[in-house]
Amino acid sequence: MPGPLSPPVLIGEAEIQARVSEMATEISADHGDVEEITLIGVLKGAFVFLADLARRLTVPPVIEFLAVASYGAGTTPSGPVRLIMDTRSPIEGRHVVIVEDIVDSGRTLRYLTELLGARQPASLRTCTLLHKPARREVDVHLDYVGFTIPDVWVVGYGLDLAERYRTLPYIARLPGERTTGRCVGT
Ligand code: IMP
Ligand code: MG
Repeated sequence: MPGPLSPPVLIGEAEIQARVSEMATEISADHGDVEEITLIGVLKGAFVFLADLARRLTVPPVIEFLAVASYGAGTTPSGPVRLIMDTRSPIEGRHVVIVEDIVDSGRTLRYLTELLGARQPASLRTCTLLHKPARREVDVHLDYVGFTIPDVWVVGYGLDLAERYRTLPYIARLPGERTTGRCVGT
């Protein structure tokens, strides 16, 4: 069984909760003149962040999810991104915010902004809890960023290593851990 039970804290629970509240305030302010926001959570990693964020918005949210998978080679997740589950409802004419756990190479979010942007939403914004700029490969616009972090593998608050650690209430670092060559469900 790899990895410690309680890996070292990178961002503590209170700090995460405070920042999520700030992000909810910012998103609500930017949508002050609309009737509802459609939040699209990217499974699986964003499910915890989305749950906290959605409950703090002052504009009523519609909750949608989609799922993607990407193939990594060695320590570089540079393969194609595939959609493996789409949203339940169409997004044409809706004010959409894509909610991600982490932007790493940027490939997932780039793929999703192109895919969803082509469906004629009224607006399309991007929101990520974590941002790892050191590993950026493609350019992608980020409207809302929780924390910028160094190039380490992080787990907790929805993020995993081989499906472990998603339920930790804080973000932990796992030094030395990187992606493997297998299919990574995000
Ligand atoms: P991308 O490289 O920006 O396309 O990110 C792909 C996905 O890899 C993210 O949505 C995460 O689900 C996952 N990922 C990237 N870095 C980490 C990490 O440090 N911990 C856990 N998951 C990660
Ligand atoms: Mg993700």
